[in-house]
Amino acid sequence: MKFGFFDDVNREYVIETPKTPFPWINYLGSNDFYSIISNTAGGYSFYKDARLRRLTRYRYNNIPLDTNGKYFYIKDGSEVWSPSWKPAQAELDSYECRHGLGYSKFKGVKNGVEASVLYFIPSSDNVEIQRVTIVNSSDSVKELTLFSFVEWCLWNALDDMTNFQRNLSTGEVEVEGSTIYHKTEYRERRNHYAFYSVNASIDSYDTDREAFMGLYNDLSNPQAVELGRCSNSEAHGWSPIASHCKNMTLKPGEKVELVFLLGYVENEQYSKFNDDGTINKAQAKALMAKYGTSEVVEAALAELKHGWEAKVGKMQLSFSDERLTRMMNIWHPYQSMITYQFSRSASFFESGIGRGIGFRDSNQDIIGFVHMDPEKARQRIIDIASTQFEDGGAYHQYQPLTKRGNNDIGGNFNDDPLWLILSTTTYIKETGDWAILDEQVPFDNDTDNCATLFEHLKRSFYHVVNNLGEHGLPLIGRADWNDCLNLNCFSNNPDDSFQTTENLDGKNAESVLIAGMFVLYGSEFAHLCGLLSKKEEATAAYEHIAKMKQAVDAHGWDGEWFLRAYDHFGSKIGSKECEEGRIFIESQGFCVMAGIGVEDGRAAKALDSVNEHLACEYGIVLQNPPYSKYYMNLGEISSYPPGYKENAGIFCHNNPWIMIAETKVGNGSRAFDYYSRITPAYIEHISDLHRTEPYVYSQMIAGKDAYRPGEAKNSWLTGTAAWNYYAISQYILGIQPDYYGIKVDPCIPSEWDGFTITREYRGVKYQIEVQNPSHVSKGVKQLIVDGSMVEGNVVPLLEKGSTHIVRAILG
Ligand code: GLC
Ligand code: GLC
Repeated sequence: MKFGFFDDVNREYVIETPKTPFPWINYLGSNDFYSIISNTAGGYSFYKDARLRRLTRYRYNNIPLDTNGKYFYIKDGSEVWSPSWKPAQAELDSYECRHGLGYSKFKGVKNGVEASVLYFIPSSDNVEIQRVTIVNSSDSVKELTLFSFVEWCLWNALDDMTNFQRNLSTGEVEVEGSTIYHKTEYRERRNHYAFYSVNASIDSYDTDREAFMGLYNDLSNPQAVELGRCSNSEAHGWSPIASHCKNMTLKPGEKVELVFLLGYVENEQYSKFNDDGTINKAQAKALMAKYGTSEVVEAALAELKHGWEAKVGKMQLSFSDERLTRMMNIWHPYQSMITYQFSRSASFFESGIGRGIGFRDSNQDIIGFVHMDPEKARQRIIDIASTQFEDGGAYHQYQPLTKRGNNDIGGNFNDDPLWLILSTTTYIKETGDWAILDEQVPFDNDTDNCATLFEHLKRSFYHVVNNLGEHGLPLIGRADWNDCLNLNCFSNNPDDSFQTTENLDGKNAESVLIAGMFVLYGSEFAHLCGLLSKKEEATAAYEHIAKMKQAVDAHGWDGEWFLRAYDHFGSKIGSKECEEGRIFIESQGFCVMAGIGVEDGRAAKALDSVNEHLACEYGIVLQNPPYSKYYMNLGEISSYPPGYKENAGIFCHNNPWIMIAETKVGNGSRAFDYYSRITPAYIEHISDLHRTEPYVYSQMIAGKDAYRPGEAKNSWLTGTAAWNYYAISQYILGIQPDYYGIKVDPCIPSEWDGFTITREYRGVKYQIEVQNPSHVSKGVKQLIVDGSMVEGNVVPLLEKGSTHIVRAILG
């Protein structure tokens, strides 16, 4: 069942009912100022950091779900309704929500009144624009009252939810004209405030929640709205809010347009106050003046749209199946940019107060957006690398506001360092910016202790070499990519965190996943050394890689698939010998991507085993059979009920590893089949089962052993975004940026006739037409660039600013 449709021309998903199976959200954001907004206008705003600079309040895990947002009420006689259905929840004559790239639009119609609200954040300012348009489409005069509503958060989102003994006494506001300023804690150490304004005179306002709401009402029926006016309340402590009230008389056909602004301002310490002790409002007023008219708002929206067009326009597909083109041309690039931006911090599943920027996660995010915004990718790589330790290990996370490693979590996730090689080499292949390797980058943010980025990569490589276990395989540390395989935790205390508890010294448990990663990304490193003419470094690296391959051959192969790990006692994990958890996805993906067993048939065998034991209708589960009880030697993985999360859920992030692995053995049909099982546009028709947004990936879909297979959770912020985009574009469609040109190496279902991709690469536009006249899966027989044959399958670097036609004929 569907609850809306894709509007590909406008690059929007159009939701036709407010009652979706779960709130379906969108992200609005500039470089520093962001909002999350649901299909009923729920959500919140923050500046840079969802934990430390939260502007408006949100109530997680509420009843009903998705309570609090940027709300409007219309009072029309005795009836009260909202254009986004919530919060009033009055039945609408019609409702529509359009989530587009960086904006969301609502349109509600009731009793001959049409109300639309457009929400977006212009690219250059710290302000959310809410443009409200009300049209009287009836044939009689309408007397309407419009109310706005936001509830301020007292900045620190965690403190705001917990420290009531203080917070209920600190709230402060100022009101001037039609603008409500939120200035809690500005009198002491803060130099920032927020404001909520409208570009018209108002009839009344409220800033105190109780005055507006009434102590016994809720968001659906605030007392002030029922009364038809606010009481000009001034918040002192308790819960400051901002609500404007405006009366309007509309003749038949008449239209009113109002621009509301929700903004954030920082002042210098010396200019915080006016002489009379009120806050310095100059910057806020400048923003209000700038966005004072509908025309300016329209222009800012157009600019935002152009910005997104330019980004997604870097790679566009034309193909016979519109589900694939809409993923490639709109939703893959969009979700990849959003995931980069927010890492795993703020969504409707990530509270914005738990996690900062992940070392492993953000390195992987780079591969999904580097072609759209190389400058941001470069900065992110440097920021991440700056939290690396001298021994090559790394902080697992850092806070976006401070960019410093997070001590609460620390390090010891032994896969972390290798992801830096993936991000950096992918970045150089895309941009040709070799100079990034010479950047001086600190260790542990200590600017007195720097080394080149190349040296950081080397430390990453040798962190693995220096931390090998008894079988010559990498020690796993707290966990590798699978955060829940905690082989040194050994916790029987429910108050311990699986992620940070290490009851054992970590000298035994080994990871075959990291071994595969090392062969793959270690080889990238060695290859890079070769290109840089660092001959000795390259030779040394290749020797370590050869040893690792031997270790995998000797101790990492289980007969029909690759083992997953050895636990603290040296027992196998992910082996046919195990009672549960006999086969895992991750090591199959990484070992085959690394090329291990491709020549001797083990790779194909491992992938057949994946197909037999792990693949199901909704995707490929992480492992099987699921753990039915808690195993102290395995940790969190066995804490989840069977079929969920890492315990045999479809953890979408690792499915593309298998897709790419299938392309390594030339199985284009299977690769694409796996892709379509989890890809939003292909499963839109089961939205009722899937529940999360049909336009983006979720981290997890319940697996075949779950209570409700096919049901998804944790939408938006997931490594799946980057990896699936990477798998489909670089390995299935086969457009691979390389150091000295674009390699064309598709691996597709043989029945496909071909496709065309336009790709901007280092300032050159390539139109790449792949033709498949003999209906094969793989193998470029002829490459023709601007009419001339080229040897091999790499399109050479051409002159910046030029456009070229490439024809790749498979056969
Ligand atoms: C989450 C984490 C990621 C981890 C994955 C598997 O998505 O953000 O770092 O690799 O879970 O446990
Ligand atoms: C839990 C989740 C895992 C995530 C981790 C992040 O372990 O299951 O997916 O990576 O938390 O801290």
